[in-house]
Amino acid sequence: MIPFTFPTARRTDPMTSHMAAIDARFKANNHRRTALLALLEHGNLTDYELADKMNEEFMMDYDKFKRTWTVKTELPVQFKLTYSADIFNSSNQDIASLSDSNRRIIVIDSEVWDLYKHKINDYFDATKLESQILVIDCKEENKNWKNVDRILDFFEQNGVLRREQIIAIGGGVLLDIVGFACSIYRRGIPYIKIPTTLLAIVDASVGSKVGVNHIGCLVAWLVGLLLHC
Ligand SMILES: NC(=O)c1ccc[n+]([C@@H]2O[C@H](COP(=O)([O-])OP(=O)(O)OC[C@H]3O[C@@H](n4cnc5c(N)ncnc54)[C@H](O)[C@@H]3O)[C@@H](O)[C@H]2O)c1
Repeated sequence: MIPFTFPTARRTDPMTSHMAAIDARFKANNHRRTALLALLEHGNLTDYELADKMNEEFMMDYDKFKRTWTVKTELPVQFKLTYSADIFNSSNQDIASLSDSNRRIIVIDSEVWDLYKHKINDYFDATKLESQILVIDCKEENKNWKNVDRILDFFEQNGVLRREQIIAIGGGVLLDIVGFACSIYRRGIPYIKIPTTLLAIVDASVGSKVGVNHIGCLVAWLVGLLLHC
């Protein structure tokens, strides 16, 4: 049997809380409940004696009580999709208008960085936004915990705030790693996906799955989540 103890310490309003406890616990034994309430009301029972009796009663009828409950909760998943042409053209305000903050935190695929770093740097010069950029080599075999760890360290070193949006730029591999890191960092921080491959445009950037491969296995979603913020 699982030991069960009612709280015996005095509270500010012991009468009310004990009555509520009796109500909840003794519905199955209405007769006994009425008698206990009457004793308590007439001052023939102290809080401590009542607690003992309730404990005794509970153990006697242990099997009759419901002892397991199911808690069900649903987390709504909602995100916006925006078509943005030539996103690092300084006349395009989509990244600049993301937030009032003066800095943008970016994690980017190394191939994309090599191709577009000048354009990206020019964009930040023109908009006068500060940028913190982490470049990641995004082969499928690099979709692993090591890179998640690198990203988490990068967030930590840059003091990323709970509501600060991360910008992920790359193919499906990059989006999956960054999405996973963002989903577990501080129990979930927001991020924006900028897909750079056809697959990432039509699939990885619109899905709500994130994850990495585990210990060198190239099995997708072996470690991952089905929701993100
Ligand atoms: N999260 C999801 O819902 C979802 C859905 C489908 C696939 N995925 C995942 O996506 C991954 C595959 O993604 P992928 O097909 O985009 O491949 P990828 O991310 O591996 O990219 C392929 C190669 O292209 C390079 N690259 C990326 N963008 C480039 C660009 N603009 N120009 C030149 N090179 C570029 C990358 O560095 C990489 O070497 C798989 O790991 C898969 O599990 C995720």
